[in-house]
Amino acid sequence: MGHFATGVAVVTTRHDGMDRGITVNSFTSLSLVPPLVLWCLARTSRSYPAFTGADHFIINVLAADQVTISNLFAFREGEEFPGDVPFSRAVADVPLLSGACATFQCRKTDEFDGGDHIALVGEVIDFAGSDLPGLVYHRGQYAIADSHPGALVESHGQAPEGFLDSMVRPGLERITRRFEAYFDNELRDAGINSKESRVIGLLLARGALDAEQIANLTLVSGSSLNETFGSLTTKDLITKDQARYSLTASGRTLASKLSEKLHSFKANALGPIAASEAEELQRMLDRLSGWIKAASSGEAR
Ligand SMILES: Cc1cc2nc3c(=O)[nH]c(=O)nc-3n(C[C@H](O)[C@H](O)[C@H](O)COP(=O)(O)O)c2cc1C
Repeated sequence: MGHFATGVAVVTTRHDGMDRGITVNSFTSLSLVPPLVLWCLARTSRSYPAFTGADHFIINVLAADQVTISNLFAFREGEEFPGDVPFSRAVADVPLLSGACATFQCRKTDEFDGGDHIALVGEVIDFAGSDLPGLVYHRGQYAIADSHPGALVESHGQAPEGFLDSMVRPGLERITRRFEAYFDNELRDAGINSKESRVIGLLLARGALDAEQIANLTLVSGSSLNETFGSLTTKDLITKDQARYSLTASGRTLASKLSEKLHSFKANALGPIAASEAEELQRMLDRLSGWIKAASSGEAR
């Protein structure tokens, strides 16, 4: 089910003079005429008696900036309604959360047995919506929805401005150039260029490799890779045994020294970027490069 992306809602009610709320992603529309919605409640929930006892509930569809509220209603310790959540009173005095991107005020019409859950059906008696972006839940994580670049291509007949053309490619090229320019001084002192450094860095990390593996992993290929092999051999930094290249003793010393410098350089450069953001960027780049690989072998059309 985690593969099915959903929104997130807090369903609120009021029963026996007490406010209750629970975070759910099982909310869905059931009927347009009459307007019916449905959600599922675990029988083990501490809110079970309140929702089965009350005649009304409100579906508060959370906005993208309401992760804290989602967590408050999903993982709270006590039973009481969290005190620091702003709300107003709506149908049957049920709390209507402030800042939600949509709200559906409902009169409960049915409850259905569903194994360890029950399905609650409500008739929508009032609703409100806003332009706020909604919170998304996908594969056990909160997410933010954004337009799919493919959908924009379909509606405008061209890729959206700012994606591959004006953002990703020039952005990556600029960053790569700046990184290389910055690190170039270190490389110049060591007497090698950036392609040579990529090859010896790879051989340090992975041991002996053949030319095809090196080309795939360093993105240096063809005559440029042959020149690089030639110069590294002349400098006594790599050696070739059968079809595989590996580092010589001096190649290993130099590659280790550069690898340490590169690590501290990267740590500095990534300073303002959170680890999770860097991982997300890495995942996006991997997906793009996976697609490009598949496209070039004729799988993606
Ligand atoms: C994103 C998300 C979606 C959830 N969806 C549901 C749901 O559809 N139905 C449900 O009973 N619990 C759902 N839960 C779990 C409840 O929020 C949680 O078990 C409950 O709030 C625990 O408190 P309670 O025992 O006081 O109800 C969900 C939790 C999260 C974080």
